[in-house]
Amino acid sequence: MNQKTAVAGANIALLKYWGRTDAKLNLPANGSVSLTLDNLLTRTTVEFDPASKGDSLTLDGKAQTGEVLARVTRFLDHVRKRTGRSDAARVASVNAFPAGAGLASSASAFAALAAASFDAAGTKVSAKELSTFARLGSGSASRSVFGGYVEWLPGARHEDSYARQIAAPGHLALHDVACIFSGEKKKVGSLEGHELADRSPIHGTRLKWVNDALPRMKEAILTKDLGSIGDLAERDALFMHSVMMTSDPSVLYWTGETVRGIRDVRSWRDEGIPVWFTIDAGPNLHLLTPAEHAPDVVRRARTTWGLSKEQVIDSAPGEGVRAVEDHLF
Ligand code: DP6
Repeated sequence: MNQKTAVAGANIALLKYWGRTDAKLNLPANGSVSLTLDNLLTRTTVEFDPASKGDSLTLDGKAQTGEVLARVTRFLDHVRKRTGRSDAARVASVNAFPAGAGLASSASAFAALAAASFDAAGTKVSAKELSTFARLGSGSASRSVFGGYVEWLPGARHEDSYARQIAAPGHLALHDVACIFSGEKKKVGSLEGHELADRSPIHGTRLKWVNDALPRMKEAILTKDLGSIGDLAERDALFMHSVMMTSDPSVLYWTGETVRGIRDVRSWRDEGIPVWFTIDAGPNLHLLTPAEHAPDVVRRARTTWGLSKEQVIDSAPGEGVRAVEDHLF
């Protein structure tokens, strides 16, 4: 057996990727910055098998068909082309995510798949090249190749669009407390949403703002300036959702719980708690807070919003993708 396994963590973007210049290559309209998380992990095993006719995929033990399998096959085709392999692959993947929280992430999934499939093909690639390939599977996966604080350079060609580390996980103990109001599958996925960004009259304004915010965010991370990290992250989340809401057709991910949450986080901050929110393509809040405040923030989220233990997930900065020996088959 020549199976290989890799583990990757999800990441939360502090400056978001929204909109593309190339949909096929997943080239983003803007650079982004994220924090890789230690608690939301995907483990994936890959084996190339000359005897099997087509690729196969199980997710959390369930055999997949249709678009989910097709997306993995499209990704493996890139790997086959690069490595000269022509065999079909057997892929198994499990998420160590709280069940039904709706957090399963394409970022950790494609970062783990990229690493395991190159390893299984017997081709060594640099972390930079691995990041370009993970990006072909899912844009945000380019960032999960690296641990800690990460930036994705947008680039104009496949080879130039990759992520790199800004600072290691131990540099600054910023936590992400994910608050899951709804684990429901979103009506407009990010794949489709990226296509709509261009159709908002404020998309260009946001891009200008983000380009100006990128060096400020990196500086804030390097100087451990939590206030600036939180402020920029919160502003960009609001800006990205403004683009979503004002595109044509309009995409509104928020629910009443999102708005109530935003208001509560701001009033906690007025009380002196260093906590900021960010929001991905969904209604759920991610609360950014230093490690020492995380237990209090978790408690507030649970009691104020009536969330269960499974609905509030506290993650510290995590490592990048890595090979492991505990194979899934
Ligand atoms: C809102 O990386 O999920 O989370 O490349 O189509 O898989 P695909 O998109 P994806 O988009 C992420 C959007 C976001 C912001 C971010 O993580 O930067």
